[in-house]
Amino acid sequence: MNQTRCDRTPAWIALQNHYADAGQGFDLRTAFAQQPDRPQRFAIEAPHVFADLSKNWIDEAASALLLDLASQSGLPRHRDAMFGGEAINHTEQRAVMHWLLRSPANAPVNTGFVADMLREVHTTLDAMLAYAERVRADATITDVVNIGIGGSDLGPQMATLALDEYVTPTKRFHFVSNVDGHELAAVLRRIRPDNTLFLIASKTFTTIETMTNARSAKAWFEAQGGKDVGRHFAALTTNVAAARDFGIDTTFGFWDWVGGRYSVWSAIGLPLAIAVGAANFRAFLAGAHDMDEHFRTAPLARNLPVQLGLLDIWYRNFHGLCSRCIAPYHSALRRYPAYLQQLEMESNGKRVDSDGAALPFATSPVLWGEPGTNGQHAYFQMLHQGTDVVPVEFVAVKKPQHDLPGHHTLLLSNVVAQAQALMQGKADPGGHRHFVGNRPSTLLMLEELTPASLGALLALQEHRVFVSGSLWGINSFDQWGVELGKVLAKDIEARLVSGDVVGLDGSTAALVQRLRS
Ligand code: F6P
Repeated sequence: MNQTRCDRTPAWIALQNHYADAGQGFDLRTAFAQQPDRPQRFAIEAPHVFADLSKNWIDEAASALLLDLASQSGLPRHRDAMFGGEAINHTEQRAVMHWLLRSPANAPVNTGFVADMLREVHTTLDAMLAYAERVRADATITDVVNIGIGGSDLGPQMATLALDEYVTPTKRFHFVSNVDGHELAAVLRRIRPDNTLFLIASKTFTTIETMTNARSAKAWFEAQGGKDVGRHFAALTTNVAAARDFGIDTTFGFWDWVGGRYSVWSAIGLPLAIAVGAANFRAFLAGAHDMDEHFRTAPLARNLPVQLGLLDIWYRNFHGLCSRCIAPYHSALRRYPAYLQQLEMESNGKRVDSDGAALPFATSPVLWGEPGTNGQHAYFQMLHQGTDVVPVEFVAVKKPQHDLPGHHTLLLSNVVAQAQALMQGKADPGGHRHFVGNRPSTLLMLEELTPASLGALLALQEHRVFVSGSLWGINSFDQWGVELGKVLAKDIEARLVSGDVVGLDGSTAALVQRLRS
């Protein structure tokens, strides 16, 4: 791949100089006074998402240099390689084609492999949505329990909550992820075997948490007199053989070119499809596809994922900011911050480049957050008056889906006021009531929270993560960093049973002994 790591480009040096000259002393209030049309200049209208970027520490010069950085690093080539089906996940020798999951069946695709995969995608999608509709029509199924973790939980759970207005009222949806038996036990207490469909969601069908929960769910089902495993269990996996060995015949597959955190568009989305129905699931895919096309074709200067990714680099590598607060002002988006944590931190939490060389600059920031206005009454104090600057990424939704008078205007007034307060600050010579201001934020605005706008919002975030990862020269599509803990946990599990602490470090041995005592 013809990529140049961002710190090896002329634009990187130019940005360092620009940071020293103007970037570090940038003040939003001065910028707005000097350039009253900032709201128009730094706004981008992308499919289903409007973005106000004007309250960021960015001027025309920084913008232009960041665009140079993107071009000199080979971002367009890398993006096109992803959309061309090349094996850009080189540590696993895999293509990266989650975008294909939302391509229409008649999308023009140029290579044999991609065309073959598109046909498979639609065959599986049609079968999965037909199954979803059958389950929706089956009044005896009152509870759907998704058992999965990471990407096999966060995406479908977040989206099912987000699209609550579209969810069938005739069924309850449960998401069990943690190996902590309290979680599964609490769900099992509320369901009956004859009325429950268990979906075992695991790309690999080996993840210990999911397999443990799946075995316990099956044992419970049989112990409760449940008869027909074939009817009450389905598997969503790339490892259909392992699902069969487990005793599940109803399986919906996907492919190794879909990363777990990018898999909500695949069979992993089945609980969402059952919840909102086939037509809404297709609208979810179509909204994401609209964003794919925007990312693929819009000029870099007007390309929202590109602009967000470049801003992330500007903040992380030049201003040294190490976290981003995610503030969705819609209570149905309450799992959106957790979803983004996996998406960005598992993708870009890497310390070596594609060649395995240690990076001389910082990568993934920490993402965190809660829905507004709740966050305001918890940690916004720190955002306004703390010693660290944390860029905030607000999400505002114009149209509510309830008719309670007053609430939505109050909600929207809060999101606008928070961005205003962060930027404007407030002088108070006494100190304690002083707000320094000049704190950056971005506002992403949706007309309404619909399947299409949610799809577009999530695809936007996927591509923005691609942009920063691409410029950093890392592989955003593997996750070796989760492996060591998994291996060690297996060893510790045996030691907790046996009491053998030979060979352990002193701290770990002491903890094992204490837990056994
Ligand atoms: O451990 C990390 C991870 O591999 C994630 O990337 C993935 O989403 C999650 O575990 C679940 O994996 P699986 O779907 O294979 O059970």
